[in-house]
Formats: sequence, structure tokens, C-alpha cells
Amino acid sequence: MKILLVGSGGREHALALGLKADKSCTELHVAPGNPGISSIATLHPVVITDNQAICELAKTLAVDLVVIGPEVPLVNGVADVLREAGFAVFGPSKAAAQLEGSKDFAKGVMRDAGVPTARSFTCTEKSEIEKALDTFGAPYVVKDDGLAAGKGVVVTEDRQIALAHALACNRVVIEQYLKGPEISLFGISDGRNILPMQPAQDFKRAFDNDEGPNTGGMGAYSPLPWAPDDIVEETYEIVLAPVIAEMAARGTPFVGLLYAGLALTDEGIRVIEFNARFGDPETQVLIPRLVTPLATLLYKAATDSLDDAVLQWRDDSAVTVVLAAHGYPESPKTGTPISHIPTIENTQIFHAGTSKSGDAIVSAGGRVLTVTGIGSDLTEARDRAYRAISQIELDGSFYRSDIALNASVAEKGN
Ligand code: AMP
Ligand code: GLY
Repeated sequence: MKILLVGSGGREHALALGLKADKSCTELHVAPGNPGISSIATLHPVVITDNQAICELAKTLAVDLVVIGPEVPLVNGVADVLREAGFAVFGPSKAAAQLEGSKDFAKGVMRDAGVPTARSFTCTEKSEIEKALDTFGAPYVVKDDGLAAGKGVVVTEDRQIALAHALACNRVVIEQYLKGPEISLFGISDGRNILPMQPAQDFKRAFDNDEGPNTGGMGAYSPLPWAPDDIVEETYEIVLAPVIAEMAARGTPFVGLLYAGLALTDEGIRVIEFNARFGDPETQVLIPRLVTPLATLLYKAATDSLDDAVLQWRDDSAVTVVLAAHGYPESPKTGTPISHIPTIENTQIFHAGTSKSGDAIVSAGGRVLTVTGIGSDLTEARDRAYRAISQIELDGSFYRSDIALNASVAEKGN
């Protein structure tokens, strides 16, 4: 099977490795990809917001499956254009990608499907906004309704900051604050069935101890030794399956990866957000642990054939740590050479924001590399990830030192 994967981040590097490892994948093409991916796939330049160009590329290559990595092309409707042209696509239609593209839409689906989430108001006027803020009180949770590349959500004790963010959005969702640990749980769907993956935890703040600004994610680990044993089953029952059924009933089936961001509150599971694609950097810990051949799995999802599919996992643990460029997330410095990238056993280094400048690899984005360590437990996986990341030379770069730390300590204590 010939596959075209669209995207260029650490998530796509991990997906590319997973697809390539499946013997049924005979040719792997990635557009636009990055220098790390170029060693395992053929790269093709493409503007990821150009639906027609992506479709033309798929036609030229005569691929059997197209996998869409990032949210922007999905929300732009690239999957519809590709399906119209006859391709099997792993990724939701424009209508189904609204689960990520509009917070208000996602709230409506959850309401109709009876899925537990924070109470919320969708507002456009200042008077409505103020009323909503005062209904819930501090901490205030204010979300831009549309896609905002990780910058749309403000959680603050400060009413003035909350109000200012709300007024800066066209349409805003203001919601109840949810207290409890957050987890990411993904499901792979063919539009009727959904196969839950194992949970992961992401670290959203830039600095240790969850300080600093929100980012796209600074690290992740899986599995979660502290999570309730039935977390996957319960999330399937009360979140994933009802959402897939609701989307199908609306005539807009969700085919692709449904990302549930959950808070485990004292009252039970609550959905914080949905995304319509694999998480980054969660994918960099899930794919190395997945035994089930990935290309076959995504092809089955794309062709309405997941009925008998099952997911198998390695017992190993995985921890990934993001190496961020100086200034990330506000104003990452690009163009800095990365002078040394080590090769170490049981460690995978995924390229995210990198590009080639002559023979050198240079930083080209905020999250530059993601380093995954694999081990028999989280402590071993952490040690490997940190040993590798400490050997990478990129001037001014930084990384969090506490990814999976508490979980690894708790695991040892058991
Ligand atoms: P989102 O983009 O919706 O994932 O939001 C980014 C981050 O804001 C989440 O990972 C949470 O840490 C936080 N957040 C979002 N919604 C809530 C909420 N209702 N209660 C508490 N924290 C939230
Ligand atoms: N890791 C968060 C995200 O992919 O949105």
C-alpha cells in the first residue's frame, strides 16, 4: 500500500515511523515533512492549506491511503476534497472536524450525546460575557470559539484578564473550572466503531511545576500507572462511543482520530476539549508502544472496516520530552544550528520544528525536537529520554525537567 501523510511536526515523524514499520506499507510519502522524516520517507513540498495541491499530489503518486496529521487542513475540508476524488482518507470531513474547529459546536454535540463536560455559555456581547464570568466565578475559563493554535484558552483568577481575552475573541465559550488531573485519551474511528487507545498525559505549561505560559505541549508519557483501571473502558462508554454515534446520526460521521482531553474530577470524567487529530507530543509516546500495525489499522478506519480490529500494546513505558527553541512559545528563535543529535538505544528522536540549511539542521519552529525514551517502567524511560536530550546541542534551547516525574515516583512507591 502506498501512503501519503500530510504534516511536518513531531507527531508526523512518529506516525511516519509507525506507518513505515508496517510491512503492508510499500511506499511512504510525506508532505511537506521535515529533515528527520526525510530519512524514512519521500518528501514533497506542499502548502498544507492548499486542498487542491494535496489532492493533486495524491493523484500523481496514486496512493492508496492519505493520512492527515494537523488540524488546519482538516478544518479546511481537505478530507472532503480527497474523498470526492476517490481516496481512502484517515481524517474527518470538514463538518466532523468542527469538533475541534468550534468549541461551541463541540459543546452542542456533547449536550445532544449526553457526554459530561463543564457547563458553559457561548457569548458574543460584553454584557453576556460579564454575566457568564460572574455566574461561574474564579478561576475563569475563557475559550476562543475557533482554532487558535494553542493560544485560545485563558484560565485565570483575574477577572480583568479573563474579560480582556473574551473581548478579543469574535465568539467565546466561558465555562466552569474543572479541578482534577488531565489526561489525553484517543480513539481511532471508522465512523461507526471507535477503538480507544491507551491514555497519555501531556504537560501544557512551558516550565517546571506547571509554571509559565500555555504551549502546544512540552512532554508526555504513557501508560498512566496512577489512573483508574477502568479509565479506557469508561471513557469509551461515556465519551467516545456516544460522540461517534451522535456524529453518525447527524449525517456527518467522524472518520479519523478523536482526541478527548479529559479532567478526572471528584464528580467523574469531564471532557475539556476534543481535537480531530493525533495529539502532539502524545503521539510520540503512543506510537512507539503500539504493537498493532499502524498502516493497516488506519486503512481499516478509512474504509469503514474496524469491526474486528483490536489494539495491542507493549508493556513498556514511554516518556517524551520536547526540546524548545529560545523564546518559545511567545517568539521562538529560528535558524539556530543543532550541532549534535545523538543516536541512543531505546530512544527515538523526532524532528518537529527543524529545517535544512546547507548541510546543517537548524531550528525552524518553537518545538524543535521531541525525545522519547522507552523502558520497562517510567523511571527507566525517563532516564533514557533525559540522557539523550541532555546531549543535544542547540543554543538557547530549553526543556522541562519534570516530565513524568511524579508518576514515576508514585509508580516506584507501589
Ligand atoms: P484546551 O485548549 O481546551 O485544551 O485548553 C488548554 C488548557 O486549559 C487545558 O489543557 C487545561 O489545562 C485548561 N482548561 C481548559 N478548560 C478548562 C476547564 N474547564 N477547567 C480547568 N482548566 C481548563
Ligand atoms: N498535546 C496537545 C495537542 O496536541 O493539542
